[in-house]
Amino acid sequence: MNFRLAQLRKSHGLTQQELGDILSVSYQTISKWENGISYPDMTLLPQISQYFGVSVDALLGLQPLEEAYVPSNSGKEEYWKNRLSYLQRTRKILWNDDYMKFLVRDVWKITEPVTVLDCGCGYGFMGMLLMPLLPEGSSYVGLDFSKIMIETAESIFKEQGINARFIVSDVMEYQAPTQYDMVISQALLRHVDNAYSFLEKMITFLKPDGLFISMECNREFEEDGLFIKGLEYDKLCQHDGLVKLWKTELDKQNRDYSIAMKMPHYLKGIGLKNIACRMNDKVTFLEPEQSDYAEKLECIAKADHWSNEKSEQETEADISYFMNHGMNRKEAEDYCRKQNGIVIYLKKHAGDVALTKANGYMISYGWK
Ligand SMILES: C[S@@+](CC[C@H](N)C(=O)[O-])C[C@H]1O[C@@H](n2cnc3c(N)ncnc32)[C@H](O)[C@@H]1O
Repeated sequence: MNFRLAQLRKSHGLTQQELGDILSVSYQTISKWENGISYPDMTLLPQISQYFGVSVDALLGLQPLEEAYVPSNSGKEEYWKNRLSYLQRTRKILWNDDYMKFLVRDVWKITEPVTVLDCGCGYGFMGMLLMPLLPEGSSYVGLDFSKIMIETAESIFKEQGINARFIVSDVMEYQAPTQYDMVISQALLRHVDNAYSFLEKMITFLKPDGLFISMECNREFEEDGLFIKGLEYDKLCQHDGLVKLWKTELDKQNRDYSIAMKMPHYLKGIGLKNIACRMNDKVTFLEPEQSDYAEKLECIAKADHWSNEKSEQETEADISYFMNHGMNRKEAEDYCRKQNGIVIYLKKHAGDVALTKANGYMISYGWK
């Protein structure tokens, strides 16, 4: 039980003696309750919760305390500073090159050289994937507010001799001196507040008749798209609490984890033509006999934070964050237990883990 007496007492600036006087018990009793040596009689709980103005569930740690919402910060530049290697690992299992080739040649039918702007380009992954497939003479500009990402992109592209230019800027603040034939963005809008205003802004970077492409994941597909041989469904599926977290983040900061599914509708609303939506066909099937098995498994484990078991303190911090974002204590504990369960399973079966993973990225596109 996560009895929150000490936390509430301190936040109200009371000593153990003062609280003891209020509840007509000794300060030693308060100390025992706070340290889990004993607990108050059930009949006292309504009095204590009423005094602090919280529900009995919140007092017992079963529901979040009514504390200020702590926004998710993955739309901030400082969040991305230390995430270059995370991004590089996840990109290794994100696309089948042949599927992108199919889109460029058979779906988007790009036969003439084009100018491409990639918004929230990271280290330029999409540029590296796209440029060899586009007609000769095409050019690529990457835009990102993270200096580290842009510096890395510049050095990779220089080394590979790809025609590209990079700009450090917040997408929302960027004043494009020219308009582009193609504006693309991958895994940007799921991280920002107010995705629709980003979309409106990105469309201004596009020439009339230009092609806009948004590639985003839908978190429900992402959560469902995992099978680890040997683990039952109930050790993997973890939607219950997450749905509340997604909804809370949508309500509190307009951050939308279903953005991928909404995107074609947004494109329609914004006035694009010939809108369509597809799904990235990449599914990672991993088993020990494959030559790149260890590398891919490490990529997946690190990207999904399954490399190290969390300490009790780290787990408690996660639980507090999840409760602050709408889960109740049980949902938060269940989620953390399942995540830790995966870590333990992967460790125990090191060298012998087989899995299937689908990221569920959706590709929405339309012409201006
Ligand atoms: C998940 S990464 C995706 C990077 C790249 N599109 C890819 O798929 O590899 C999100 C990127 O968007 C950038 N970003 C987030 N918000 C931004 C903003 N408001 N303006 C510019 N870049 C932003 C981050 O710095 C990060 O590099």
